[in-house]
Amino acid sequence: MATNNKPFLAIFLLFLGFLRFDLFSGQEAQAPTGSLTSPPGIYVFGDSLVDTGNNNHLLFSIARANYPHNGVDFPYEKPTGRYCNGKNSADAIAEKLGLPLPPPYLSLRSLLTREMIIPAPLTGVNFASGAAGIFNSTFQSLCQAITFSDQVNDWITIKEELDDELGPSPAQMHISKSIFGVTIGVNDLSDYISSSKETTPQQYTQSMADTLKVQLKRIYDTGARKFLVTGVPLIGCTPRSREKNTTVYACNEEDNMLASLFNKALVKMLQQLKEETKNSMAYTYFDSYKAVHDILSNPAPYGFTDVTSACCGFGKLNAEVPCLPFSELCPDRTKYFFWDLFGHPTEAAAKATADMTDDSQYSSPLTLSQLVSS
Ligand SMILES: *[C@@H]1O[C@H](CO)[C@@H](O)[C@H](O)[C@H]1NC(C)=O
Ligand SMILES: *[C@@H]1O[C@H](CO)[C@@H](O)[C@H](O)[C@H]1NC(C)=O
Repeated sequence: MATNNKPFLAIFLLFLGFLRFDLFSGQEAQAPTGSLTSPPGIYVFGDSLVDTGNNNHLLFSIARANYPHNGVDFPYEKPTGRYCNGKNSADAIAEKLGLPLPPPYLSLRSLLTREMIIPAPLTGVNFASGAAGIFNSTFQSLCQAITFSDQVNDWITIKEELDDELGPSPAQMHISKSIFGVTIGVNDLSDYISSSKETTPQQYTQSMADTLKVQLKRIYDTGARKFLVTGVPLIGCTPRSREKNTTVYACNEEDNMLASLFNKALVKMLQQLKEETKNSMAYTYFDSYKAVHDILSNPAPYGFTDVTSACCGFGKLNAEVPCLPFSELCPDRTKYFFWDLFGHPTEAAAKATADMTDDSQYSSPLTLSQLVSS
C-alpha cells in the first residue's frame, strides 16, 4: 500500500508544483513594495548576467537556461531562464531597492505578434537577453537574442503604453524617478577575443563605448534620468578561462586587460554623456571588475570557499561541460562564487556584489542609494 502510493504522491506533488509555478509567476510583479526610499520602478537592459527569462520566448534561441539545475534554489525550484541557481543580479538589485522582481518583457507579450497580453507592472520590466551585446552581431552561434538596440525599442513600446495608461505628465514623473539598469559588454569582448582582431583592443573597446552611448542617449530621450551602469567583470577568471590554462588554472590576464580597457572607455563615456545632457542625468557606475576582483582575492569574509570552479558542470573545475540536467551540482551553493563555466555568479555572489553598490569604493560618482534619492 505504502509503496503503491509513492508514484501517485510524486505525480500529485509535481502537479501541485506546477500549480504553484503559475501562481508564483502571476505574483512576480505584485509583491508588496518596501521602504520609503524605493524608486517607483526599475527597468533592466543587458545580457545573460541579468536575463530573467526573455530568451525562453525566442523561438530559435539556444541561449536558454530554462532547464535544471538552473533555478534549483529559486522558489519552487523553478528553472526560469536565469543563468543561476536562484535569483540573479537584476533580482538582487530590485530586492535591495524594495521592488518586486521585474518580469521579463516577453512574458507580457504575445509570442507571435508581440502585442500586449499583460500590462507592464509600474514597478518595472526586464528587457535583458542572454547572448546579447552592444553590437548587433554577438549571438551568431546561438541563433537568436534581443540586441541592445532592440531592447531599447522594447522599452520605447512600454514607455508609449505608460503614456497612454497614466497620461504623459505622470508617466514622465514615473520614468524620471525610476532606475535604468544596464549590464552589457561581455559578449562583445568574447567576440573580439575569438576574432581575427582586425582592430586594436583600444579601437574595439572605444567603439563599444561609442555605440552604447547612442543607445543610452535613446533611453535618456524617453525621459530616463537615473542610470545604474555596470562595468564588465574579470572575464579572464571564469572557470572556463582558468580551465583552459592546463598548467596552473590561472586567470587569463590578457582577457582581463581587455575588460579593464572597456571599463575605462565606459567611465569616460558616462562622464561625457552627463556633460552633454547638462548634468540632467545622474548615474552610478558600478565597478564590477573591482568588486569581483576583491571577492576572488579574499573570499572568506563573503562566505565563499570556492571562487575558481563552477558549482554546476562537469570535469576539471566543473568547467568542461555547461550546467545541464545531468551535470554535477555542488552541494552548498552559498560557498561558490561561480554558478557555471561561463562565470555567471551564484545567487550568493549576485547578492554579495549587489550589496557593494552602496559602497563608494565600487560605485561612483554616486552610490545606488544616493542615485535613488538624487
Ligand atoms: C543595430 O540594428 C539596428 C536596427 O536593426 C540599427 O538601427 C543599429 O544602428 C544597429 N547597430 C549597430 C551598432 O550596428
Ligand atoms: C597559465 O598561466 C600562467 C600564469 O599566469 C602563464 O604564465 C601561462 O602562460 C598560462 N598558460 C596557458 C596555456 O595559458
